[in-house]
Amino acid sequence: MTAHDLAATAAALVAEGKGILAADESFGTIEKRFEGIGVASTEDTRRSYRDLLFTTPGAAEFISGVILFDETLRQSAADGRSFVEVLQGQGIVPGIKVDNGAKPLPGAPGEKVTEGLDGLGDRLAEYRALGARFAKWRAVIAIGDGIPSADCIGANAHALARFAALSQEAGLVPIVEPEVLMDGAHSIARCAEVTEATLHATFGALFEQRVVLEEMLLKPNMVLSGTDHHPQAGVAEVAAATVRTMRRCVPAAVPGIVFLSGGQSDEAATAHLNAMNAMAGEQPWQIGFSYGRALQTPALRAWRGKADNVSKAKDAFLHRARLNGAARRGRYSADMEAAVA
Ligand code: 13P
Repeated sequence: MTAHDLAATAAALVAEGKGILAADESFGTIEKRFEGIGVASTEDTRRSYRDLLFTTPGAAEFISGVILFDETLRQSAADGRSFVEVLQGQGIVPGIKVDNGAKPLPGAPGEKVTEGLDGLGDRLAEYRALGARFAKWRAVIAIGDGIPSADCIGANAHALARFAALSQEAGLVPIVEPEVLMDGAHSIARCAEVTEATLHATFGALFEQRVVLEEMLLKPNMVLSGTDHHPQAGVAEVAAATVRTMRRCVPAAVPGIVFLSGGQSDEAATAHLNAMNAMAGEQPWQIGFSYGRALQTPALRAWRGKADNVSKAKDAFLHRARLNGAARRGRYSADMEAAVA
């Protein structure tokens, strides 16, 4: 592996008109998603569901990479090929979530720090040998009364940077994900302030840990009104606030910013991404997506665990992928929502 490989992988993940599917739900999270559609979470249902997504014909036109969970990286499709082979066969880059989840931060009620650094170097080496070419680590920052604290932001920034440095050393492109949560009654201005503080701390830590900016991607939240704030900022305001915050914090050496959807509706996540890409003026980085819920929700609802629904679910996934592909180019419009794939 060479530095060139990592930069080339990062560039491939933010190729024009494409983005990342986050399908890395941990056991607890996928159980919650399946509960919503009345499906029990077993190794087999999880395998069938991921099979459905990864074998959707045409999706590779819009999906550059897929983030897998440990179990999924080791599973195979119904046709016997490993999921890694299924993805690689379509030119889709396989990636892996490597953090062990956000745990309560001692002495800081309501705040969390992400764990998983112990033994990470060995796990990364194994993941690379299994075919992964990029890795993701998610930190969560909550907004509330008196929070986030500087301690919480600092502890999470440090862990993100340690993860990123270890990933590059192991030959994997790090996707650095500091997520400022949208839950709460805060304004969009407060979200901008917290996002800015979080990103500054994160890039400071990345510098201290000697992370090569050209060989990573940032996966941040968009700058939004809190879910309980009224009125909600509109699409143009969200796009302007998000791009302004990113321009203040994200060095031009970073090849791409791949936003998470974070609980936005699928339409809102697509409309926001489109508005940022349609804005006048050049940005120094690609503005892309790495969506979990915003890409999967319609497919999950169509599937409901039934083999008979697989084809409808694939159509729903492809439709969402295509719309986000259009948003990557700033060519999405709401009337495209109705056009069933
Ligand atoms: P959402 O787009 O559903 O926020 O998921 C993205 C992700 O990978 C969270 O870690």
